[in-house]
Amino acid sequence: MKLLFFYFILHLHNFFQISSPQTLPRNTTGHACNLNQTTSSCQTYAFFRAMGPNQLDLASISDLFSVSRATIAKPSNLTSLTSPLVPNQALFIPLTCTCNSVNTTTNLSYAKLNYTIKKDDTFYIVSTNLFHNLTTYQLVETVNPTLVPINLTIGQDVIFPIFCKCPTKTQLQNQVNYLISYVFQPFDTISSIASRFGSTATSIVEVNGDDIRPWDTVFVPVSQLPELTQPSPTSLSSDKMSARRGEVIELATGLGVCGVLLIWIGGLWAYREYSWKEEVGKNKNGVESKKLEVEVSLMADVSDCLDKYKVYKLEELSEATDGFDERWVIQGSVFKGYIDGKWYAIKKMKWNACEELKILQKVNHGNLVILEGFCIDPDNSNCYLVYEYLENGSLYTRLHDSKAERLSWRKRLRIALDIANGLQYIHEHTIPRVIHKDVKSSNILLDAHMRAKIANFGLAKSGCNAITRHIVGTQGYVAPEYISDGIVSTKMDVFSFGVILLELVSGREAVNEEGKALWVEFYENFNGNDEKPNHKITEFIDDTILREPCSTDSVKNVMSIAIASLHRDPSRRPSMVDIVYALCKSDDLLTDLSEDGFSPLQVLAR
Ligand SMILES: *[C@@H]1O[C@H](CO)[C@@H](O)[C@H](O)[C@H]1NC(C)=O
Ligand SMILES: *[C@@H]1O[C@H](CO)[C@@H](O)[C@H](O)[C@H]1NC(C)=O
Ligand SMILES: *[C@@H]1O[C@H](CO)[C@@H](O)[C@H](O)[C@H]1NC(C)=O
Repeated sequence: MKLLFFYFILHLHNFFQISSPQTLPRNTTGHACNLNQTTSSCQTYAFFRAMGPNQLDLASISDLFSVSRATIAKPSNLTSLTSPLVPNQALFIPLTCTCNSVNTTTNLSYAKLNYTIKKDDTFYIVSTNLFHNLTTYQLVETVNPTLVPINLTIGQDVIFPIFCKCPTKTQLQNQVNYLISYVFQPFDTISSIASRFGSTATSIVEVNGDDIRPWDTVFVPVSQLPELTQPSPTSLSSDKMSARRGEVIELATGLGVCGVLLIWIGGLWAYREYSWKEEVGKNKNGVESKKLEVEVSLMADVSDCLDKYKVYKLEELSEATDGFDERWVIQGSVFKGYIDGKWYAIKKMKWNACEELKILQKVNHGNLVILEGFCIDPDNSNCYLVYEYLENGSLYTRLHDSKAERLSWRKRLRIALDIANGLQYIHEHTIPRVIHKDVKSSNILLDAHMRAKIANFGLAKSGCNAITRHIVGTQGYVAPEYISDGIVSTKMDVFSFGVILLELVSGREAVNEEGKALWVEFYENFNGNDEKPNHKITEFIDDTILREPCSTDSVKNVMSIAIASLHRDPSRRPSMVDIVYALCKSDDLLTDLSEDGFSPLQVLAR
């Protein structure tokens, strides 16, 4: 009887909620926590609806919340990390909820998310439109006391505190393991939420009180995460337009292009293709004008570099390479070309190459290959980049081609330092920082003096996004966390650099004939704590190095840098700054000992 009465009250309450004018303000200032009653931090979830148009893919939502796609997909019962989401699709976002003291008297419970301010962002817009009211601008102001809300600059980092709560000890005893953060919608009632999450109205009221208003974040107590039923993938793919959208978005994410422009071009492109197929012959003028638009937008995209680089004519490049004859292929789609008495390397790509152009125009360093100019061919949607030509080809060929002259340890060390310097530059001295994403020996070129330069920024990424769903890169070099979770960071370059160090030391390829990665083999042999016997180490070192008089300490030091760079946990890998420093030490070791002319074999034999 008592229970019935309670429900009656509840329903009455819900009734009022919708019809009565709202007098009390909603809780905008945050939720207090008491460290005596709860743990200082816990893992919890926020219920989140994907809303368009910028949130209809998992990647942008995982970027927003700085978590990997997999950690959203799993609790949300999503089977694919890459298929597009539908509007209002329900997701559970994992949060690390902590109890934070904001001043001497108050502790507030929230999950700290870093967000980088973009054009036209305000605390209010980001809180309501992007985070869907899982936080409020008032709380954002509280936790960022040093920022002036009316004077935000693009690129500024702001903490967005997402409302969350950890269960108290009593709640945990009562099997309440999670308090799911849920933004109360105008059409919700407490009982509808209770049934949706497998909770009870009473327990929701117990936690949140009974004065719940639309857009309030409520905490739904549950013993386990309810299972979400997701739209089946087949119903999605039958919808052609949404699949097409997905492709375009995927393309854009993969290229890491700062979105809108490329999606716009991509859209035009898709549209052009589409209308071309549909109306071939019928509507030539329409197609022509679309083509023009594409061309104009491509040029707008690269207009910044027009004064910095030479713009080549297609005929010029064609002539330089005998009409892109196979004989002039250096590697892949890179041709050697002769223009005005000088050799150049000419890379032919689809129009998306302009991203590389955008990145290259920002960088300028002796250990990065120099871009001389470019050419855009809108008829075939091709883009050509013209680089300086490096006489000694790639490090890959130098190390692994049996015909190539063997490199001395001194030269190898020099090359390692050159690469490290180039990577340090793009990681530390470009704004926003650039991540190469495809560091491998075939992308390292050697000039006439055997100095190394990093080439091929085709997959490089600049800027903020930390997670991608478009996995690219080369087997044997890609960092494990990138393959598994799509995490993009400078540490993935550090990992690939570690693989190059192994190649330099061992003279072996990054992946052997059986398809086993060199780093895996190295891991198995040298990552234990016990001192490895010297014969095992010498087995790993390239014979050429063993034969020459040089310091084993220098080689061993480089091997230890490789071990550190290949750490499975990216946060424990050294930065390129540390690596440059450590490599200089190897160089010193080499100089110290080379006068004495020890052979490593002699040293090891002692
Ligand atoms: C957030 O709350 C505001 C009212 O404060 C509302 O207008 C807006 O639609 C809400 N946003 C979302 C995404 O629910
Ligand atoms: C706004 O911010 C800029 C840079 O952060 C600063 O130079 C300027 O003084 C600020 N203006 C006001 C009104 O606070
Ligand atoms: C997961 O989603 C599928 C539809 O994609 C649904 O059939 C299934 O019941 C869901 N799983 C659970 C355990 O709810």
